[in-house]
Amino acid sequence: MTSSLPTPDLNPVGDWCGADPFAPDFRDNPYPSLHALRAREPVNLTPVNTWRISRYADVQTIFQKAKTGMTLADGSAPNFDPLDQRGSFLDFMLNKDDPEHARLRLLAMKSLGPHTARLMEDEVKKSVEQTIDRALAQGGMEVIEDLACYVPSRMICQIMGVPQQDRGLFNEWTGARTNAFFGRFLPPEVQQRTRDAGSAMADYFDNLVRERRGRLGDDLVSALIRAEEQGDTLRDGELVVQAIGIIVAGYETTIGLIGNGLRALLDHPEQLALLREDPSLINNTIDECLRFDTPILFNWRVLKEPFEVSGKLLPADAVIWQMLASANRDPERFDDPDRFDIRRRDVSHLSFGGGVHFCLGNSLARMEGRHALNQFAQRTKGLEIRQGNLEWSHSFFRVMARLPITFH
Ligand code: HEM
Repeated sequence: MTSSLPTPDLNPVGDWCGADPFAPDFRDNPYPSLHALRAREPVNLTPVNTWRISRYADVQTIFQKAKTGMTLADGSAPNFDPLDQRGSFLDFMLNKDDPEHARLRLLAMKSLGPHTARLMEDEVKKSVEQTIDRALAQGGMEVIEDLACYVPSRMICQIMGVPQQDRGLFNEWTGARTNAFFGRFLPPEVQQRTRDAGSAMADYFDNLVRERRGRLGDDLVSALIRAEEQGDTLRDGELVVQAIGIIVAGYETTIGLIGNGLRALLDHPEQLALLREDPSLINNTIDECLRFDTPILFNWRVLKEPFEVSGKLLPADAVIWQMLASANRDPERFDDPDRFDIRRRDVSHLSFGGGVHFCLGNSLARMEGRHALNQFAQRTKGLEIRQGNLEWSHSFFRVMARLPITFH
């Protein structure tokens, strides 16, 4: 009788070192266990055969010096569920290496860069104003639905050319779809929900692309169609996958910035008071929010050749999870890292990743965050704000589903 060997990535070779991302308390507050992990084993081989890097300096070194790519030597994606086919992120720019990555990134850059952030600014300011008007009239709000999701979803749908009446569809799909980035390791029911969201989004964008071909506009989906029609090398399906990836990136992360950022300000009323006194602190506040509670806990890379990190030699084809959330709270890098301090002088967090994949939407996200948090702070002056019970979303990112607040 032959015994069947476990697949290599599920062979329990390492250990979670007390920081098990599947443990129930990890979601509520991952920071104590990330501190313990960093102190005990900063370069940690996990039970799923991936290497977690948790010191700031090591994450930076990998971004700057290691020869890395996004896929394994055999071309497969280390974190993805192999059965997740329709709408799969395999062809999304984030999963590609140069030259394909550079080509796809260039096609989207114009629509997601600082120029678009400037064009969208009035619109975003208006959506925040309307939201706060409603909240003040009603005596409170559901922070995630009314502000943290409402503002980015309107903006990204407009950039993509998704009609505003379809926006609600994505509230559910994008959260579910983030799990694809980690799909290989998730329970079967979550894998199925993630695949279903991929299929639904692929159907949606197939239709939108078909419809848009007849009447191109100045949106990002039209820009991708034009690139294809002008003989660029967007292959079959690539267009739809870029659209899915960008809408997921534009929605879920910014919900995290606005939601987690507002929660941090509410939990630290003296910091909220500082922002109210001096609105020019807003840029630093955004960076401190991103450092303090990043929407994406870790990203990934694959080593193309052996590389030494903190005294450990990692082999070629090692899958690396760069623990951005841990690096952002590394005491060797930040004074008193668990203190939320919007006047902190050095807030160079790693929440937007690094190297060639550095977040393409960072100017848009910062602009949305600035308006949401600053207007909230200024227009709720003099009110006592009470928080209700928060609920985490089923997103793979660190994003809440609900955070009710009332004004008194
Ligand atoms: C606070 C909000 C955001 C955070 C924390 C964030 C974070 C990230 C991270 C960690 C990465 C991967 C970087 C790496 O692996 O080195 C990334 C990539 C990316 N992000 Fe963001 N993001 C945010 C907002 C946005 C927005 C609003 C958009 C678009 C509208 C966007 C579009 C993208 C794209 C297209 C990529 C892939 C870039 C590439 O592969 O070259 N992001 N983001």
